[in-house]
Amino acid sequence: MKVAVFSSKPYDEKYLDKSATDDLELRFFEHKLDRKTAVISKGYEVVCCFVNDDLSEQTIDELADNGVKLIAMRCAGYNNVDLQAAEKRGIKVCRVPEYSPHAVAEHALALLLTLNRNIHRAYNRVRENDYSLNGLLGFDLYQKKVGVIGSGKIGATFCGIMQGLGCDVSVYDPFPNDEVKALGIDYVSLEKIWAESDVISLHCPLLPETRHIINSNSISQMKQGVAIINTSRGALIDTRAVIGALKSGHIGYLGLDVYEEEANLFFEDQSNLLLQDDIFARLLTFPNVLITGHQGFFTNEALNAISNVTLGNIRNFAAGNIDAVHLVKV
Ligand code: NAI
Repeated sequence: MKVAVFSSKPYDEKYLDKSATDDLELRFFEHKLDRKTAVISKGYEVVCCFVNDDLSEQTIDELADNGVKLIAMRCAGYNNVDLQAAEKRGIKVCRVPEYSPHAVAEHALALLLTLNRNIHRAYNRVRENDYSLNGLLGFDLYQKKVGVIGSGKIGATFCGIMQGLGCDVSVYDPFPNDEVKALGIDYVSLEKIWAESDVISLHCPLLPETRHIINSNSISQMKQGVAIINTSRGALIDTRAVIGALKSGHIGYLGLDVYEEEANLFFEDQSNLLLQDDIFARLLTFPNVLITGHQGFFTNEALNAISNVTLGNIRNFAAGNIDAVHLVKV
């Protein structure tokens, strides 16, 4: 089966090649998949895509016209895929529902601990021979209230980690997870999360009802100096509202691995270009904002699992073993 891998980076090629077998002919393209680049898919039955590929209706129509039968996402999220359009054109969509929840949950912790103890600033100071501590004061996470939004695989893992640090964890999720309940963690309302949390970490998918879940109204209900961590999807946060709250000091710390407009920024070396996104540029000016470029998934364990499951999905699809494919339902 011929597979066109879009948005391919050297690490994708390395891990996918490692898991590939002779029945799959993988061809790697650096281009992002969108309606313009969809022309490349001619002659391929499968396109393998990532988080910032644009699988809107027009792209999907072109894929269908070119004979594509399967969109194999090599990630968990699929908010960038128009599922209705895919169904209409008879294209199946599959994903990797779970690869390493630890990778993302641990990255959320890394963002939080770096911000909370000002490690990013301390790193630079020491390299400048500056050992002063002014401005580096942190706070103990022990016994702090941590509000987790979304308690699926990553959220549940994050809950366990924060409990291990001695935090008082509460969760909001419309579909409670028994694994989290078994930890003795309470499910509470969103209002309670906003009002009581010292730290809020987002682990829910991007859906119409979660878009801009962090907005000026929810921020106004939060504690002064709250820390917000988002490793989920950028558009969960209304960035303009967050900038206002950072300026006033209402938000004390912001750790992001994802950004609303990341599709035009992340995963590329843009160091020779001028940054055109003024909102992102403003975010970068705050010492209490830490941004990584969507690298939560980027561990050896996660990449191995992503490659194995993605290629397993494609092989099962080719063999007509559809029940074993991790299909995304409309
Ligand atoms: P999951 O599907 O296991 O869990 C998502 C949870 O969110 C579920 O428990 C669901 O009930 C809950 N949820 C649904 N609607 C909600 C709402 N309105 N409010 C609160 N919770 C709601 O997903 P998983 O694997 O835990 O991933 C979570 C998110 O992490 C993904 O959607 C993806 O966007 C993001 N992600 C980020 C990565 C990175 O590299 N930064 C890598 C992998 C995933």
